[in-house]
Amino acid sequence: MREQLEQLRNGALQAVATASSVEQLQDIRISMLGRKGELTALMKGLGSLSATERPIVGQLVNTVRDEIESALGAAIASAQEKVIAARLQSERIDTSLPGRRPQKGTKHPVSLVIEEICSIFSGLGFAVAEGPEIEHDWYNFEALNFPPEHPARDMQDTFFVENDMLLRTHTSPVQIRTMLKQKPPVRIIAPGTVYRCDSDATHSPMFHQIEGLMVDTKVTFGDLKGILTVFTNQLFGQKTGVRLRPSYFPFTEPSAEVDIACVICGGKGCRVCKNSGWLEILGAGMVDPEVYRHVQYDPENISGFAFGMGIERIAMLKYGISDMRLLFENDVRFLRQF
Ligand code: DAH
Repeated sequence: MREQLEQLRNGALQAVATASSVEQLQDIRISMLGRKGELTALMKGLGSLSATERPIVGQLVNTVRDEIESALGAAIASAQEKVIAARLQSERIDTSLPGRRPQKGTKHPVSLVIEEICSIFSGLGFAVAEGPEIEHDWYNFEALNFPPEHPARDMQDTFFVENDMLLRTHTSPVQIRTMLKQKPPVRIIAPGTVYRCDSDATHSPMFHQIEGLMVDTKVTFGDLKGILTVFTNQLFGQKTGVRLRPSYFPFTEPSAEVDIACVICGGKGCRVCKNSGWLEILGAGMVDPEVYRHVQYDPENISGFAFGMGIERIAMLKYGISDMRLLFENDVRFLRQF
């Protein structure tokens, strides 16, 4: 039995010495010292020894157990230390590395143009007004002197929602909402999103407009031209030529389309201005008396002008963008340039 104990001890210490992980060491503990382990099995043989031998061998068993136990304890502690050391090494943080900076966004060119136009007009005494994008037919058409079945409704390919509701096709209904809310004098601009069933390189089903409205007792067509000249000069640079051409809108009379000298060629003629030297940038006119009647203003005592322009078109001209779809694709490589 002594020999068996000696063998078991040597085998166990050998196994502990060659084990390479905490798990293996724990397995050794179970197979040697566990309830069904080898040492426990040997101890069962103590009963067959004589009364004189039993305490001596019992003592020896205890010594062997303690020896194996302490070898295991030391080996497990050192294996655990190695695991921690390896982990510390692999998770080491180099505090001298520079941090990752968050990427800064830039303002969208459409927002930049809206901000710039609003700031020019606020310098001229215009306040900013707003209206809903889902609009009632009455504000979008009827009150602006587009009666039902009026052929001018064809100019605007409308998305209808249901009953008499639609996605506003222009920002002009904000004129009506403003005049219903306040008495003259009125001096507002209204930036916002508008919708039309139309899509190609120069048209998008969703785009932006800015509406302007000035109503007072003696506003003239000369005031309209003066304000728009100041505006275009500030937006596109001093001395931009401005030209008014007669046009038609149901809610203005007389109506005009406003051109600026081509910002690409300076008026000499190029591909962008189709060799005309001019670029159309907005529609305008004197508010039609019929519109005043819809908002209970007295057309005999007041007068005013209105104008409306597409922001995307202005952004394209100002920044030399050739395809409107670039403005909606949100490719950061494009957007970062502004
Ligand atoms: N609402 C017109 C459109 O979307 C633009 C416009 C033209 C607005 C003349 C005006 C205006 O206020 O006077 O085509």
